[in-house]
Amino acid sequence: MGCNRSWLIFPLFVLLISPVHGLTGYDSESLDVLIHQYAMKVQAKKRTGTSLKVPLPANFSGMEVSVVRLRSGHFWERGVNFSSFYIPPRVTPFPFVKRLSIVYQNLGNWSTLYYRVPDYSLVAPVVGFMAYDASNSSASGNQALKFNVLGDPILIKFPNLATKGNPEILKCVELGPDGLVHFRNITNENTCITQGDGHFSVAVKNSGVDKNSRVWIWWVIGFGSAIFALVLLGVIGFTTL
Ligand SMILES: *[C@@H]1O[C@H](CO)[C@@H](O)[C@H](O)[C@H]1NC(C)=O
Ligand SMILES: *[C@@H]1O[C@H](CO)[C@@H](O)[C@H](O)[C@H]1NC(C)=O
Ligand SMILES: *[C@@H]1O[C@H](CO)[C@@H](O)[C@H](O)[C@H]1NC(C)=O
Ligand SMILES: *[C@@H]1O[C@H](CO)[C@@H](O)[C@H](O)[C@H]1NC(C)=O
Ligand SMILES: *[C@@H]1O[C@H](CO)[C@@H](O)[C@H](O)[C@H]1NC(C)=O
Repeated sequence: MGCNRSWLIFPLFVLLISPVHGLTGYDSESLDVLIHQYAMKVQAKKRTGTSLKVPLPANFSGMEVSVVRLRSGHFWERGVNFSSFYIPPRVTPFPFVKRLSIVYQNLGNWSTLYYRVPDYSLVAPVVGFMAYDASNSSASGNQALKFNVLGDPILIKFPNLATKGNPEILKCVELGPDGLVHFRNITNENTCITQGDGHFSVAVKNSGVDKNSRVWIWWVIGFGSAIFALVLLGVIGFTTL
C-alpha cells in the first residue's frame, strides 16, 4: 500500500501553490540600477540646476524618469520639488558630498509588476527617488546617498488615486527591498510623509470576502482531488484484488 499514498500528496501540493505565491521575473533592484545608468548618461551632458527627463528604452514605455543635479548647500537652503515629491529645506545628504543627483521614477502601469503588497492592492503608481554623489563630473561610479532630515519631513503627493472606497482605508506604503513594506497613515490631501529616499505608493486592504472565496476555491479543489484520489485508489484496489 505504501506507494499509493503519493496520490494523497497531489491535492496537498495543489493547496500549497496558490496564486498568491507566484514569482515574477521583475526585479525592482536591477530596475533601479538600470534607471540610474540611463539617468547618469543624460546628466553627463549637462551641468546643474534643472530637472531633466530621462529617456528609457522603448520596452519600458509607460515609466517616467527624471534627474536633477544640485549643490548640497543649495539643497540644504531651499529643498527641491519634483513631480509628486516635496523635499523641504534642512535636509542633508550623508555621507556629505558637494553635489548630489536625485533620480525620480514613476513606474506607471509597471508598478504592480515590480512591487506587490500581500493582502493589499496598490491604488496609485509606485513613485520613488534616490540620491547619488555627483561631486565628480565624470558620470560613472556614483555612490548612493541617504538623507538626514533635520526639519520637516519629505512629502509625497498622490493627487489621482484609483479608489473605490472611503479614504480611511488608504495606507501609505514604503516599499523596501526584498518585499519589506512599511505602512503609514495617509494625511488629508492624499499626502504621505517619509524621512528618506525609497519607493512609495498607496494601498488598500483587500476585502476579506475576496480572500476567503479564494481559499474556499482551493479547499474545494483540494478536497475534490482527494476524494477523486480515494475513489481511484478504491477502484485500483478493487480491480487488482
Ligand atoms: C528591455 O531591454 C533591455 C535591453 O535592451 C533589457 O535589459 C531589459 O530587461 C528589457 N526590459 C524589459 C522590461 O523587458
Ligand atoms: C504600459 O503602457 C504603455 C503605453 O502607454 C505600453 O506600451 C506598455 O506595454 C505598458 N506596459 C505594461 C507592463 O503594461
Ligand atoms: C516647493 O513647493 C512648496 C509648496 O508648493 C513651496 O513652498 C516651496 O517654495 C517649493 N520649493 C522650491 C525649492 O521650489
Ligand atoms: C573624479 O574622478 C576621477 C576619475 O574617476 C578622479 O581621478 C578624480 O580624482 C575625481 N575627482 C574628485 C574631486 O573626486
Ligand atoms: C492611523 O489611523 C488609525 C485609524 O484612523 C488610528 O487609529 C491610528 O492611531 C493612526 N496611527 C497613527 C500613527 O497616526
